[in-house]
Amino acid sequence: MNPKVSVILTSYNKPQTVGKAIDSVLRQTMQEWELFIMDDASNEETAKVINKYLNDKRIHYCNSYVDDQDRYKKTRYAALINQAIPLTTGKYLSYLTDDTEYLPTRLKEMTNFLDRYSNIDIVYSGQMIQHVDNELKLVSMKTRKTKGVLKRAANRVDHCSVLHSRTIAEKVFRKYRSYWDDNPKYWHNGDAAFWSRLNEFEPFYPIHKVLDISYKTPSSFQKLNAFLPPKIPDGILVKGLGSEVYLIDQQKRRQIKDEMFDRLKYNHQKIVAVPDPVLFKYPCGDPIDESIFRNQTIPNQRLIKAEERADLFYLQGNQKRKILDQKAIRRFHFKLEELVHVNQEDIENIADGPHIHSTFSPKFILPDGVIYLEGSDYFLSYKNILHLIHIQVLKKLQFSEAEFVRMTKEERLLFEEGESLLFEIFRK
Ligand code: TYD
Ligand code: MG
Repeated sequence: MNPKVSVILTSYNKPQTVGKAIDSVLRQTMQEWELFIMDDASNEETAKVINKYLNDKRIHYCNSYVDDQDRYKKTRYAALINQAIPLTTGKYLSYLTDDTEYLPTRLKEMTNFLDRYSNIDIVYSGQMIQHVDNELKLVSMKTRKTKGVLKRAANRVDHCSVLHSRTIAEKVFRKYRSYWDDNPKYWHNGDAAFWSRLNEFEPFYPIHKVLDISYKTPSSFQKLNAFLPPKIPDGILVKGLGSEVYLIDQQKRRQIKDEMFDRLKYNHQKIVAVPDPVLFKYPCGDPIDESIFRNQTIPNQRLIKAEERADLFYLQGNQKRKILDQKAIRRFHFKLEELVHVNQEDIENIADGPHIHSTFSPKFILPDGVIYLEGSDYFLSYKNILHLIHIQVLKKLQFSEAEFVRMTKEERLLFEEGESLLFEIFRK
């Protein structure tokens, strides 16, 4: 006999909580379920946890084997759910993420409700949200309450608080030729995009109770994505869920080896944690190791100098720009403590760029990666174009106030203004 409910669990690199999510299904008071674990090519640690459950005949497992560089192309969990639905057999469908636990009576109460009211196809419940630290210690919590019968459930009901009939999912499919919309523009609220589709047919009916607990960890997509601009500027150090650190240089990600970190005077405090799909969007560039000196691939936006010489250079666009005077060093807040010593020979092999001096003029080329403050607006210079940037983005990217360079309006108007580096609106 077919199970009553098919639970679709989407999983990616949450070894600390994915087991709790699975346990919460095993502990249900209603046992007529099947569970589809849709794993998005997680790391070994996560696979180890999941493997422990795979002897249970009710539990099915699929691995997407997605390539990391393709992650950003679709809202991954929506793509996984679309892949799962045709494999499921239950009368009802229910969603679970790898950082959420169902309370033991959830499936029973929700299926009882839909069984009792045969004209209703979608039910939702309240949710407890627990913000936790990396060790899963509670930081704060709140409840997401039910809000009555919802004709517009988008952004008001969480992914893991809904159960609906297969029949209504098929209505969505007939209209849209897909169940969930996996367009990546809905990554932060793919559930809301699907709720809107469901709402075209029927409202969501509440069970006025908390029936799931969702953990928000510092590594959840939304936390990591908050205040990130559409493009990460060059010169920023980034890190995903793995331990590797990369430098964004010429819009590629260059892995920086531990031993080169101090050698190039980078600061561990300045590494920005970003979601994996964002990290892997940047193509791989040359790794940053000892070979950068002989290959003229020292990362850009570094200050360099030969031991025995006085000349200082700023690297930009794979060229070296000589800094003409002390005033220019102060003007652009170049940090002498970050000076990298390079052999004179290796310096000579780097192509020359335009000099850097302290006064602006229409012909002057701005140093890349400097933050200017004009009135209350912040701008980042890149390829001699100024990009308006939000203070929250600057904080996310670990810029400090001491780095900001004041500029008058007249000075700013000497330069072209390009696309803004504001952040995309996100749901908390
Ligand atoms: P999560 O990090 O929990 O995001 P949020 O901040 O919105 O809670 O991820 C949500 C779901 O997406 C979760 O079930 C795991 C899944 N997911 C993938 O399947 N692939 C991925 O590459 C990522 C980042 C997440
Ligand atoms: Mg989550």
